[in-house]
Amino acid sequence: MTRHFLRDDDISPEEQSEILALAAEMKADRFSRRPLEGPQTVAVIFDKSSTRTRVSFAVGIADLGGQPLIISTANSQLGGKETPSDTARVLERMVAAIVWRTYGQAGLEEMAKNTTVPVINSLSDDFHPCQLLADLLTIQEHKGDLAGLTVTFVGDGGSNMGHSYALACTTAGMHVRIACPPSFSPQPSVVGDARAIAEQSGGSITVLHSLDEAVEGSDVVVTDTWVSMGKEAEKAERVATFGSFQVGAEAMGKARGDAIFLHCLPADRGFEVTPEVIDGPQSVIWDESENRLHAQKALMVWLLEHA
Ligand code: CP
Repeated sequence: MTRHFLRDDDISPEEQSEILALAAEMKADRFSRRPLEGPQTVAVIFDKSSTRTRVSFAVGIADLGGQPLIISTANSQLGGKETPSDTARVLERMVAAIVWRTYGQAGLEEMAKNTTVPVINSLSDDFHPCQLLADLLTIQEHKGDLAGLTVTFVGDGGSNMGHSYALACTTAGMHVRIACPPSFSPQPSVVGDARAIAEQSGGSITVLHSLDEAVEGSDVVVTDTWVSMGKEAEKAERVATFGSFQVGAEAMGKARGDAIFLHCLPADRGFEVTPEVIDGPQSVIWDESENRLHAQKALMVWLLEHA
């Protein structure tokens, strides 16, 4: 049966470790795997703007011997004129895999149900699982074994990043703290899923509404924009609500002395994070950004092997 990657818990803890190990191996030997030699084509569809995702998938597909076909929904029939299921049936006749950045999770699920090639979620309103593979690879590089580490995600707990942190890090056996205003808590169903995963993996999930309490003793501190794509009209209201959740030197000072800072980018310096933190010595954002390439290449190799 074709495997897809639509949310972080579509892979088991063992499978996540396997993909991260493959990513590390392929980072050390960049052109060692060529499953798309031919070249076979991978469709990379964007309903929303992107820099890192577009470049890392395009470069990664080429590194694997293939050819990326970048499709903007604005210039295609998908997005109002044709259903995801019809699009999926057409694409599977021509491409080896489908990568899609979109809004609703339901469209991705419909696409996946109607195709024999792997579908990868490259960001939806609910999850950003490719980013989390890159983040976990980065944390592993800087901190070693993931299991048992404490990671604090600060910001919109109900955003795709908040949700993906909850699922991916509990899968890795980590202790996850989500620090957010009460009205921006993660969806209860996602917290429930993360809790069930944590019971098996030895990790944990806690939602806190105090930044100080959440970052205390953390190994990893993460934040993201307060204004996710599609929420631009709410910017003034969000800035007011999230004001006490800015990651600055004081918050980093409460984390462990050797804590690292991550941000998936793009960043709004002076809002969710101060320049001294994001551009300071604890920040590993450039490794994190590069690791999109290595993690996604490993994911594509793994999915193609399990197709
Ligand atoms: N982090 C991330 O997904 O970046 P882009 O929006 O630039 O792809």
